[in-house]
Amino acid sequence: MNEHFVVRPADALAGTVDVVGAKNSVLKLMAAALLAVGRTTITNCPQILDVPLMADVLRSLGCEVAVDGDVVEIDVPAELNSEADYRSVSRLRASVCVLGPLVARCRRAVVPLPGGDAIGSRPLDMHQAGLRLLGARSEISHGCVVAEADGPGAALRGAQIWLDFPSVGATENILMASVFAEGTTVIDNAAREPEIVDLVRMLQEMGAKISGGGTSTLTVHGGADLVPTTHRVIGDRIVGATWAFASVMTGGDVTVRGVDPHHLDLVLDKLTQAGATYEAVSEGFRVRGNGRPRSVDWVTLPYPGFPTDLQPMAIALSAVSEGTSMITENVFEGRFRFVEEMVRLGADARTDGHHAVVRGVPRLSSAPVWASDIRAGAGLVLAGLLADGETEVWDVAHIDRGYPRFVENLRALGGNVERVNAPPAR
Ligand code: EPU
Repeated sequence: MNEHFVVRPADALAGTVDVVGAKNSVLKLMAAALLAVGRTTITNCPQILDVPLMADVLRSLGCEVAVDGDVVEIDVPAELNSEADYRSVSRLRASVCVLGPLVARCRRAVVPLPGGDAIGSRPLDMHQAGLRLLGARSEISHGCVVAEADGPGAALRGAQIWLDFPSVGATENILMASVFAEGTTVIDNAAREPEIVDLVRMLQEMGAKISGGGTSTLTVHGGADLVPTTHRVIGDRIVGATWAFASVMTGGDVTVRGVDPHHLDLVLDKLTQAGATYEAVSEGFRVRGNGRPRSVDWVTLPYPGFPTDLQPMAIALSAVSEGTSMITENVFEGRFRFVEEMVRLGADARTDGHHAVVRGVPRLSSAPVWASDIRAGAGLVLAGLLADGETEVWDVAHIDRGYPRFVENLRALGGNVERVNAPPAR
């Protein structure tokens, strides 16, 4: 692919950017639609490739899916195919979230394993352990995760489940698997991300009896029949925060609309420590940078901690801050690959295990760099805004998967970036 972004130094970014629904919510909500026969409508969907890819996964299970702008309509049949198609699943690792709904609906699911990726190994052991406690056998067989209610005609049974780690994906799959289980399921040490709360809300709208969304303990009273619903996806806090970092790094003044600032309480507080000011405004928040940022230490943790998905932005900001920052990655061990690309851009950074130390420099130095995942790609573009000369960011398909209209939005704020389709110059 010859497509890349050319990023040139930017003055202070300024203006308003509208953020649409969260990628990491919409894909799970589409999977949740499987739980009710009939037509579910999801609005405020981001127009990114992952949505049509998820639509293909649902079609392979027997659904009819229409994607029209920011609206997705899913018609779910009474009889679902319990085996997801390898070709569609392999293009979208998040599609493993159909596992829970399929086990709930069909009492059996076969979902090809998506495999590891650039941010680290992504095992499913907690998903499987939870399903086993609900009474499903689960094994990895011929490259697929297979789960099946134990015994012919057997139902899933409510259970007490403690997660070793508040995994987002495991919480979602176990939650969705449990909605038809007999009795009560309690998921302890559950993930508390706003996207989990969004999923809980949609399941409640469908008639599920769930309490505790947004806390570490989710309680599900199983057995209710679910009906289709119309649901609006919450705004993408990671996209919103990416624009906040861009504002602070360039000493800008950016208003983000469409994201609940409470989903970014800790992030916005950290940016304040780095010298920025922020205020809540109607439907969003406004972040103003104030000269060169000050160094801050960052530690990634499950919500409400600092999100691992913003670790590249934290490193990009630290790279141009006054002073030295320590960044600790506790969620995905592979995410520090990003640091190597930042060093190519002149960052004074090194890693040791799950820590990175970054000594800020006043200006970065442009170079061709490669995006290894969605967030690393966005972080490199932000860094390019603070580099002299032209920074080429390659493998931008990653960025397109998480950031709808990324170049257009950045240009509207005054960023000097363009999408180019040409072979490498160097
Ligand atoms: N883990 C296990 N066993 C499991 C499940 C998870 O060891 O059974 C480990 C993972 O290997 C990882 C940690 O637990 O080290 C956290 O994984 P989690 O399950 O919480 O993450 P996920 O559901 O795979 C989602 C987002 C990620 C985001 C993480 C953490 C989606 C589609 N993906 O992944 O988003 O980083 O939660 O918040 O929702 C992104 O958007 O760029 C992205 C990678």
